[in-house]
Amino acid sequence: METVTLNNGVKMPKAGFGVFQVKDEAQCTQSVLDAIDAGYRLIDTAQSYGNEEAVGKAIAQTSVPREELFITTKVWISNYRYEKAKQSVLDSLKKMNLEYFDLVLLHQPFKDYYGAYRALEDLYKEGKIRAIGVSNFYPDRLVDLCLDAQIVPAINQIEVNVFNQQIEAQKWNEKYGVQVEAWAPFAEGRNNMFTNPVLQEIGDQYHKSIAQVILRWLVQRNIVPLAKSVKKERMEQNIDIFDFELSEADMKKIEALDEKKSSFFSHYDPATVEMICGLKR
Ligand SMILES: NC(=O)c1ccc[n+]([C@@H]2O[C@H](COP(=O)([O-])OP(=O)(O)OC[C@H]3O[C@@H](n4cnc5c(N)ncnc54)[C@H](OP(=O)(O)O)[C@@H]3O)[C@@H](O)[C@H]2O)c1
Repeated sequence: METVTLNNGVKMPKAGFGVFQVKDEAQCTQSVLDAIDAGYRLIDTAQSYGNEEAVGKAIAQTSVPREELFITTKVWISNYRYEKAKQSVLDSLKKMNLEYFDLVLLHQPFKDYYGAYRALEDLYKEGKIRAIGVSNFYPDRLVDLCLDAQIVPAINQIEVNVFNQQIEAQKWNEKYGVQVEAWAPFAEGRNNMFTNPVLQEIGDQYHKSIAQVILRWLVQRNIVPLAKSVKKERMEQNIDIFDFELSEADMKKIEALDEKKSSFFSHYDPATVEMICGLKR
């Protein structure tokens, strides 16, 4: 698996597998085992997904050694403030039966994320986490945090797909050495993503599916995509993106699809902030 090198020297796979909304425990464990078998090494879970134990079971069962895997979790808002965040990461380690995480992110930029970030910095220094970062930090909050952090985030995991390309946001992340990860690269199939004629025409030229075109486009933009599927043949397809290269002309055609707006919600909208902060996790 090709890798990117994070701002602290840690190497991370160039594409990852996510388990958001895979709630059934047995299905989640099997999906992670299938994903590892298909070639994935980066697995992305979160405290709020309620499946850390199920992912941990797959890590215990696979024959792939722990050090070849790259395991990410995220701290939910209800665990923010220094002490609670620190304890929650230790609890997540216990749930997953792990000695360390490769990456821990703050899931959302709301409430006491500074306290929670200090906890990640300390866990990093104590060797419990190999890299720390954030998620859903749009440029204003990201820059604010980078200017105050002792350890600049290694990662910012944000929504990126062909309809919400985050070109300006990526520039701000790169200015501070923060690697962008893309969540929901398929926008969970919204906006007829999987039947888009422009993507279909491009895919036909390379004998690749629309999903592969999207993931390859992200990799070529130096963004690490996280894709979810519970179907093994789709996992195999979604990781099989390293044997072709989209031409500059095709990259431009995809760039023209940008609508510069979320397929889900805006983190700048006060009603969204209320909604996310009110979610019971
Ligand atoms: N940080 C955050 O706030 C945040 C938010 C959302 C997501 N994430 C992360 O990003 C990961 C991916 O995002 P997501 O799960 O929301 O959505 P996604 O990966 O954009 O889309 C998943 C959907 O696409 C389908 N699919 C997958 N591969 C396909 C293929 N090759 N052809 C056709 N359909 C395909 C899946 O169906 P099947 O499963 O039936 O194949 C599923 O319905 C998550 O699992 C999570 O790790 C993070």
